[in-house]
Amino acid sequence: MRIDVFTLFPEAFDWFARQRHIANALAAGHELHLVNPRDTTPLSAGQVDDTPFGGGAGMVLRVDVMEAALRARYGADPVEERGRRRVVALTPGGRLLDDALVDELATEPELTLLSGRYEGFDERILEHLCTDRVSIGRYVLAGGELPAMVVCDAVLRKLPGALGDPDSAVEESFSAALDGNAEYPHYTRPADWRGHRVPDVLLSGHHGRIREWRLAQSRSRGRGD
Ligand code: 6GU
Repeated sequence: MRIDVFTLFPEAFDWFARQRHIANALAAGHELHLVNPRDTTPLSAGQVDDTPFGGGAGMVLRVDVMEAALRARYGADPVEERGRRRVVALTPGGRLLDDALVDELATEPELTLLSGRYEGFDERILEHLCTDRVSIGRYVLAGGELPAMVVCDAVLRKLPGALGDPDSAVEESFSAALDGNAEYPHYTRPADWRGHRVPDVLLSGHHGRIREWRLAQSRSRGRGD
């Protein structure tokens, strides 16, 4: 998969791209590109945002600036390009990111993520240049960079090559293998810590009973909401 993240703060992703599972995904042939709309702005002095019509606090990302950035990247009219690729704007009011949406995004060969800052996007960016609006929760962050990293992390770890053990992503919290429920509890040594013992079944060596116990635990934890 190739992911392009459009962001005014590409350096915010330096730490993220160095993380083991992201580095693994990139080494396996997946791509993560950072595109700065300031590099292609048609306005002078690197301007990318403007004051809101009607007044109010903060600055708004300009639609002509996003259009120019997308056109420079894809060599086509971005209004048409969005019929050929998923263009996801990260915005607090968007569709809540969950495992099903991550699975959906992970099937795309190419993905475009738009990170906003300031007060957000000119509405025409969302309406005419994007296919999706995604939020990572009902609270407001200063910008879309952390949400974009969250989407990249969640998507890339689903792809072959990202995880040391490919089974890690199959039976994890909220996966279809667990009927959308949270994952069962894990334990390691010591088997007894201050009198808190690891459940006997896990020490029993009976794989069938361990499996049953884990699925029952996952079921009783539910979806966490
Ligand atoms: Cl996608 N963006 C911002 N700025 N804040 C958020 C968010 C996105 N999701 C939750 N809070």
